[in-house]
Amino acid sequence: MSRWNDVTGGTAGQDYAARFAALARSGKDVHGEARFCAGLVPAGARVLDAGCGTGRVMIRLAELGYDCVGADLDASMLAVAQRQAPGLPWFQVDLAAFEPDLLGIAADFDLVVAAGNVFPLLAAGTEATVVKRLAAALRPGGLMVAGFGLNESHLPVPPSITLSEYDDCCAAAGLAPVGRFSTWDADPYDGGGYAVSVHRRLRMCGTS
Ligand SMILES: C[S@@+](CC[C@H](N)C(=O)[O-])C[C@H]1O[C@@H](n2cnc3c(N)ncnc32)[C@H](O)[C@@H]1O
Repeated sequence: MSRWNDVTGGTAGQDYAARFAALARSGKDVHGEARFCAGLVPAGARVLDAGCGTGRVMIRLAELGYDCVGADLDASMLAVAQRQAPGLPWFQVDLAAFEPDLLGIAADFDLVVAAGNVFPLLAAGTEATVVKRLAAALRPGGLMVAGFGLNESHLPVPPSITLSEYDDCCAAAGLAPVGRFSTWDADPYDGGGYAVSVHRRLRMCGTS
């Protein structure tokens, strides 16, 4: 179970998609995450959308020519993703137990993206394991991108992971810091309540 499930009861898919559809209709930019990722790796690159939810980010990346895989635990979110893009690969899986081999996919992603507060919404105590699992799915040199809130005003749950804790998880998983931003438009990080972090896999890393 995840904090996300605690908050939503596992039934948020339709409402979540409707909320972003309304934002898009009102002229809001809902593709910042995909654009940010597209600035890091070229079209055609393999991308894992970790905690893909309704596929908001991944469907856009697929439209831009990326070779994408989506993974999420919440069946109601995945049902929307599947309905919106039935031709794309969506997997219902706990990121804390993510093993590409078991899903029949290669562990050589060029980029893993965890957008939309995935890390603060994991089950308590699983953050380091999830970072390790995701790092192991990257090819050496591949990039890990995570954007999440750090205080109450940027989160639907109490803050649970600090940037230094996240960086420690990354270091333990063989991921080195590349950059940190305050928005998906790559504005410099200013110490505020939201951060987008980019790390690079340096070496082979295990999942134990
Ligand atoms: C706020 S939604 C973000 C969805 C999507 N990334 C986006 O930006 O629109 C957070 C997602 O993290 C997923 N999640 C939380 N813990 C998870 C876990 N252990 N394994 C897989 N997905 C998880 C939830 O199911 C949920 O879909």
